[in-house]
Amino acid sequence: MKVKKEQKKRSSLSKKADSKIGAKPVAGAGGVVSDIANAKVSRRTLLRGTATAVAVVGVSSVAMKGMQFQPVKEQSASSSSTTSSTSTPLTTNTNTATAPAPPPVLPTDPTAPRTITLNVNNKNISVTVEPRDMLVDVLRDTLGLIATKRPCNRMECGACTVLIDGVPHESCTIMAIRTVGHSITTAEIATGDPVVAALDAAWVTADGGQCSYCGPGYIMAATALLKTNPNPSVDDIKAACSGNLCRCGNYMHIITAIQLAATNLAAASSGGA
Ligand code: FES
Ligand code: FES
Repeated sequence: MKVKKEQKKRSSLSKKADSKIGAKPVAGAGGVVSDIANAKVSRRTLLRGTATAVAVVGVSSVAMKGMQFQPVKEQSASSSSTTSSTSTPLTTNTNTATAPAPPPVLPTDPTAPRTITLNVNNKNISVTVEPRDMLVDVLRDTLGLIATKRPCNRMECGACTVLIDGVPHESCTIMAIRTVGHSITTAEIATGDPVVAALDAAWVTADGGQCSYCGPGYIMAATALLKTNPNPSVDDIKAACSGNLCRCGNYMHIITAIQLAATNLAAASSGGA
């Protein structure tokens, strides 16, 4: 009897609790609702359980979040107060080994004037030029060596011919800065070179020049010839001077002058002149 009374009492109490929280058992349904209903918990118990569940979910989510995004938290030093005291400001890089390389130093203006040293007629001369300056312009306009002429300025007449390391070159088509470290010879060397001196004398004797505007270029070409071929034939002379033009048409006198110079040089070397 006592047991039945106790069961009755419990049954009425549970009904009261159900009516208070509005929970009704769902026949055949599983899950939280049926479990709560079957457990016949009070509102306080339910709230406690719910709070506990929320806390567990919150803690677990925070823990999962922390585990999942831990690398990100390490990178963002300012986002967490717990890491801000030990983190290093992003603007300060104390690791010099990984510091970014400084920007490359840009080259100086390639068109800017520069001072170079030219060896002209066996003399070293410092001269300020622009990289684009042609040798003929530097010789004539800067150094005042006006024996070298500039009639065409496009490698057609040969009047600007000079010797660079003993080889004839049209100075209107070579930049001055490219001749640094090389020997430049112009007609101004005159008595400083026995071959040039012999040609100068022969040019006067044989009427090598009418207006003589082409003369210095021819004499430079003939100098290179006679230094490698002391006894040239007419064809050798024509071939050596094929890059030179004489607007006066004085070609036969020019050839004669070169032959005379060769003869005089040969005589001088043998002690006959
Ligand atoms: S000026 Fe140089 S070839 Fe005529
Ligand atoms: S002598 Fe006049 S251009 Fe040659």
